[in-house]
Amino acid sequence: MSIGDETYPVCNLQSLALVPDAACFVVLGATGDLSRRKIFPALFDLFSDSRLPETLVMLGFARHPLLDQDFRHDLEAGCRSYARRREFDEAAWQAFSSRIFYLEADLEEAAGYERLARVLGGRERLPGLPESQSLPANALFYLAVSPEHFGPIADRLGSACLGSSERSSGAVNPSGLCGWRRLVVEKPYGADGKSARELTRVLQRNFKEEDIYRIDHYLGKETVQNLLYIRFSNSIFEPLWNRNHIESIDISVFETEGIGQRGGYYDKAGASRDMLQNHLIQLMCLTTMEPPASLDPESIHDEKVKVLKSITLKGTRDLLSRSRRGQYTRGSSPGGKEIPAYVEEAKVRPDSRTETYVSLRLELDNWRFSGVPITLRTGKAFADKYSQIVIHFRRPPTALFAAQCRETLVHNALTIRIQPDEGVWLRFNAKVPGMPSIKPSELRFSYRETADYLPEAYERLITDALSGDSTLFIRADESEEAWRIVDALEKAWSSADPMGNPFEGGLLEYAAGSPVPELER
Ligand code: BG6
Repeated sequence: MSIGDETYPVCNLQSLALVPDAACFVVLGATGDLSRRKIFPALFDLFSDSRLPETLVMLGFARHPLLDQDFRHDLEAGCRSYARRREFDEAAWQAFSSRIFYLEADLEEAAGYERLARVLGGRERLPGLPESQSLPANALFYLAVSPEHFGPIADRLGSACLGSSERSSGAVNPSGLCGWRRLVVEKPYGADGKSARELTRVLQRNFKEEDIYRIDHYLGKETVQNLLYIRFSNSIFEPLWNRNHIESIDISVFETEGIGQRGGYYDKAGASRDMLQNHLIQLMCLTTMEPPASLDPESIHDEKVKVLKSITLKGTRDLLSRSRRGQYTRGSSPGGKEIPAYVEEAKVRPDSRTETYVSLRLELDNWRFSGVPITLRTGKAFADKYSQIVIHFRRPPTALFAAQCRETLVHNALTIRIQPDEGVWLRFNAKVPGMPSIKPSELRFSYRETADYLPEAYERLITDALSGDSTLFIRADESEEAWRIVDALEKAWSSADPMGNPFEGGLLEYAAGSPVPELER
């Protein structure tokens, strides 16, 4: 790699190089949207890049009566539209799809799981599997179903001896399946702390915690992973990464679209459960955690949990003053498309008070960040779409330039741009040529200019789950600690009058397509 005239070596981190194991990749609820839009397109991209084991077998498991070729046909349409590679490679598709099979089963009945166990354990031949092929001994169960099915499905897998906990696998596994068994669970993980704990209890009854992979797709994004690389592979940032030098941190995820067809789910969740509990809180943890003892998953999870435990919640009034909630009314997207008011969206209650915008200012009660406000904000149907973390540094001492410029001398700021325009920007002050003036300037690093491609989050997460690396997934205690914050916020809001003062928990209305709100300082 060269920068200017100099050539630098690239350091390949052998300890982080992932080697996915051969496995049966079983997608439960395989005929749904997630499977068509995300899981199989990601698998196809991985396959096209030769990053999947040659013997991987993919097995759709769902209720619809389909033949292998019908299932492949549906997935082909999904892969054509949603795979990262824009050129559809017919030959690659033929080779890839020949490894996809379908088992029809009622996900609510034990019989289907018993059959799955016979098939995976080699006691029943998978219809359609060529004579020359056998199934790998490992099995990954991907729950692409709605959340109320997570627990019951885990129990049914366990009862069919397809789990990995002692109870469900037994000393000698009667299913005959002798390799590892892992469970991948999508979000939402619980609707509050209580239901998340209950879900964990059920999952852990059937799978060991280290075999449970809770997805937060933000952690699979390259730019989010880059956070740890930037912080801990440079010596210029970390000495400044504390309350002595950082004035505030803003983490924002804004979207231009409304909720579309997801009203049934969203109206019960709102922005706080849909985005804050997972993506935003995870970004905060990665931005503020201490350097882990090592790069192994447990050390990283431990540090994230410490961040969350350092947040002291000081009661309803305090939470109401630190938070804002809003809901969009009728308006239009930046492209001119009309967006109905949130309460007019399909499957939303007409008198719904569910928030589509949330802002929450938190403080960590720890040595490094005590007193530094961290604002987490997210919303739908705004004029801009971006996700970013901005670290605002303190103003320089008042002597010299700052004394004269005062408020016009901007603070240094480091922006970690997650999407779009993925990159890192550093804002600093510089002289205006030919004038005794100072103006803000920027150093910009753009991922797209330096990388051949940016893998999709699901490509990375699938690779990690097949490789047995849980770093980019959520551990049970992380999820519980995040729920502690969101539960308290929801409780505070439920005690406030939604029609009241927005500074005391009232619901703000904003027209769809409005500019992203100014940050309150
Ligand atoms: C999902 C939320 O987890 O993340 C959606 O359920 C949201 O409501 C989406 O739109 C945003 O993800 P991304 O990758 O498009 O920023």
